[in-house]
Order: sequence, then structure tokens, then C-alpha cells
Amino acid sequence: MKIVCIGAGYVGGPTMSVIASKCPNVIIEVVDLSQERINAWNSDFLPIYEPGLSDILKESIGRNLFFSTQIEEAIEQADIVFVSVNTPTKTFGKGAGKAANLEYIEKCARTIRQYAKKDLIVVEKSTLPVRTAEAMEKILHSGESPYHFEVLSNPEFLAEGTAIQDLLVPDRVLIGGRQTESGIVAIEKLADLYAHWVPRERILRTNTWSSELSKLASNAFLAQRVSSINAISQLCEETEADVGEVSKAIGMDERIGSKFLNSSIGFGGSCFKKDILNLVYLCRQYGLNEAADYWDQVVIMNDHQKDRFIDKMIKTMFNTISGKKVAILGFAFKADTGDTRESPADYVVKQLLEEHCEVTISDPEALENAKKDLGERKNLSFEKDPYLACEGADATVIMTEWQAYKSLNFEKIYTSMRKPAFLFDGRNILDHLSIHQLGFNVFPIGKPSYVHELKKV
Ligand code: NAD
Ligand code: UGA
Repeated sequence: MKIVCIGAGYVGGPTMSVIASKCPNVIIEVVDLSQERINAWNSDFLPIYEPGLSDILKESIGRNLFFSTQIEEAIEQADIVFVSVNTPTKTFGKGAGKAANLEYIEKCARTIRQYAKKDLIVVEKSTLPVRTAEAMEKILHSGESPYHFEVLSNPEFLAEGTAIQDLLVPDRVLIGGRQTESGIVAIEKLADLYAHWVPRERILRTNTWSSELSKLASNAFLAQRVSSINAISQLCEETEADVGEVSKAIGMDERIGSKFLNSSIGFGGSCFKKDILNLVYLCRQYGLNEAADYWDQVVIMNDHQKDRFIDKMIKTMFNTISGKKVAILGFAFKADTGDTRESPADYVVKQLLEEHCEVTISDPEALENAKKDLGERKNLSFEKDPYLACEGADATVIMTEWQAYKSLNFEKIYTSMRKPAFLFDGRNILDHLSIHQLGFNVFPIGKPSYVHELKKV
């Protein structure tokens, strides 16, 4: 069997590496339009940082796993084509800022139709609005092609930073398809592939639309938990309740559960916001305005959390940050990834620069992406070493929950900073009291802040 995956990104690369490792008899070719990305996959400098990826990739690359830009040739030989291209929020025309931009998906469908040399199973791996498979089927079966294309929905649930573990031991694999004879055969063929390492009871079969919608709904539910706890964090800051304690107390109720209740500067990443906006757009399309408003609020709360954080910085630093120096520790949208898409740090940095603040960004894995995202700007610099980034700063700001930041020598940092020294912990990862005792004024999220009595001048 030959599998082709269109799209060598954060999903295509890791997913195919795991399938190739678990199914050595299957030939897998991952193709992409970007020569640069493909070159990186074929080199020692992978295009993405993901713990465990390089080891699993090494098992199969050159054996049954190949990366190339030969899209047409690959499709000619394929039995199954996974489509794992990006589906960003539309930035133009109808639905701009909400709907998913499906031009890349559609382009793939047209390319598959044009180059297929036999009947094919086409697997939607990308996250898509419900009923996209119908449009895919229509495009695939338009024109002269004599072949049958069975479209399946097989959304990916991996999270960046834990992608390999998520793929090796998934909570579930979801396969949606037409409930027709050929649809069921295709579903079982894909299920057999996953059954090489996923227990059968974890392979869930549904109709196509349930599968497509479950992916959007899963992300909306996860993001909603973060916005819910962040909404509570705001009340904590006003009432001396501690969001960490509240989160623990509510999470111990098994019906609620403890995961995804870490209050933060807000969720980031390439998917939560876009997928919720997509869900909102879908609801509105069907005239379900109240349902749309409900999900919209998850994004509104997330944006508000970032604004509150910035307001607090300005207020506590004597209502002006113009000319002050701020060290941003962490630019990735979460720990253990170099991905900076929709990172809360990006928004915070831009707002600080608007206020004429001098900003230095540090991050162990995301500095190159940060440079690409922000480009050269007045008052902005980049520094890999967190100690150097904090030198002479008025404030140190934790924006990503990197493990390494927990064990920084804050005494050394405090000594090198301008006084009074401020620390804003946007991830609540530090021991706030002991850092305060070093001399810092400390501002966590949703917890009491620790402020020294400032000497009168
Ligand atoms: P990505 O941007 O990292 O990768 C997409 C790749 O597709 C790019 O390399 C791009 O060059 C390529 N591409 C686009 N159009 C193409 C075409 N016509 N032919 C060949 N290549 C083409 O995106 P990603 O983060 O891997 O996400 C892919 C999809 O998976 C999205 O729908 C996303 O919502 C979903 N998803 C992402 C994650 C995640 O953690 N990143 C997790 C689950 C699901
Ligand atoms: C998320 C989902 O977890 C995956 O299941 C899904 O496949 C993926 O989106 C997708 O569709 O792309 P990801 O965005 O990689 O994965 O990362 P998460 O671990 O979900 O974190 C998202 C954001 O929420 C991060 O900024 C993280 O710091 C934040 N977060 C998460 C919190 O602020 N608090 C929490 O308790 C958990």
C-alpha cells in the first residue's frame, strides 16, 4: 500500500512519521509545495521542534518514509491520500476574520482528481467546517475522471509539544465516512492501518459529518475551559481568592476534571481561535445566532485576558511604560514547541511597542519564528540567553511555561535589573512568594500580587 500525505507541516510530518514507524510495510510519501520545508525534513534541521520527533523520524526516513515536492507523481501511485494542509481563517471577502479559508483544501482536491490513476481513498486530516467532505466529493467527481474517490474524515487531535505521545497513544482515532458499502469498506481500510498500534476499541467510526463536527467541537470545548478558568481568574484578582486553589478545588470533582484548568495569559496556537471562529461562522450560516454568540464569547474572553494583563503592567509600573525596558521570557504559544502562531506573546509585545516600551524577547526554541513574525522594529531586540535579556530591565514577563524558566536564578536576574523590579507571571509557573522575597514586585494571574512598599523619594 502507498500512502501520500499532502502537507508537510505540524500535523503531516509527525503523523506520517508515526504511521511509517508502526507500519513498516506501507510506503509513505509526504509532499508539500514548499521546497524549503521539504529540504528541512530531509536534513538534520527539522522544520518544527517537537520532542521525540527526530528519533521516530530516523526509524523510517529513506526506508518507507519520504518527503518530496513531487506531488503529481506521488498521487499517481497512491492508494490513500491524506490531506493535511493548512486551513487558516479567511482574511478577505465573505466571512473574512471568521470562516475557514478552504482554497488550499480545494486545490488539493483538484490536484488529486487530475493526477489519480486509480480509485482512491481521500482522507481529510485537516480541521474543516462540517460538510466540507461533500464539497470535496463534488470536486473530485466533477470532470472526466473515471475513478471513484471515497472521502473520509479523520481529524487529528494531537497537541504540539506532546504530538508524538499523542499519536502513539491516542485517546481515540476518529474515522467518519459515508454509510454506504464503499464508504464502510474505506473506513475499515483506514481503521486497519491504525490498528497496527491503536487498540480497536479506541478507533471510533461515525458518519462523515459527526467526525468533521467533533473536531471543531473538541477544540471549542478545550478552549472554553481555558476561557472559563481565565474568567474566574479575573474575579480572583478582585477578591483575594487564588485561581490555583479554585482550579484544584473544582478540578477534583471528577465530573469536571483537572485538565485544561490552568489560568494563563490566554490560549494561543494556530487552531483554537480559528476553529472557534469557524464554529461561530457555521452557526450563523444556519441562523443559530445564540449558539454563535455563546462560542464567540470564548474568544472574546481570551482577548480580554491579554488586554487585562497589559493594563495591569502599565498601571503597576506607575501608569507609564514608555522608555522602560521589558524582558519577555517565552514567545512560543506554549512550552515544548517553537510554534508562535497566534501566540499571546505576539499581541503583548506589539502592544508594549505601541506604548514605546523597549522590548527584548527570549525563547529557547521560538526565537527564529519570533524574528520572522515581528521583523525589524524600533525598540525591539532578541536574545537567546534569558539572563542577558533581563539585564537592565524594569520588568521581566513570563509568557511561555518553559520548564527551564522555573529554575532560573532569579536572584541573579534581580541584581541585574533596574529597581524597582517587576515580575509578571503570565503562566503562574513561579514560586511568587520566594521571588518577592528577593526584592521583586510580583504579579501572577488570578492570585494575590506581592508588592514591596516603595520608598518615598
Ligand atoms: P502547517 O501550516 O504547519 O502545514 C500545512 C502545510 O501544507 C504547509 O507546509 C503548506 O506549504 C502545505 N500546503 C498548503 N497547500 C498545499 C497544497 N496545495 N499542496 C501541497 N502542500 C500544501 O499546518 P498544520 O499546523 O500542520 O495544520 C494542518 C491542519 O491540521 C489544519 O487544518 C489544522 O487546523 C489541523 N490541525 C493542526 C494541529 C496542530 O497542532 N498544528 C493539530 C490538529 C489539527
Ligand atoms: C490543541 C488541542 O489540545 C489538540 O487536541 C488539537 O488537536 C489542536 O489544538 C489543534 O487542533 O490544533 P495545541 O493548540 O497544540 O492543541 O495546544 P494546547 O495544549 O491545546 O494549548 C493551546 C493553548 O491553550 C496554549 O496557548 C496553552 O498554553 C493554553 N492553555 C492550555 C492554557 O492556557 N491553560 C490550560 O490549562 C491549557
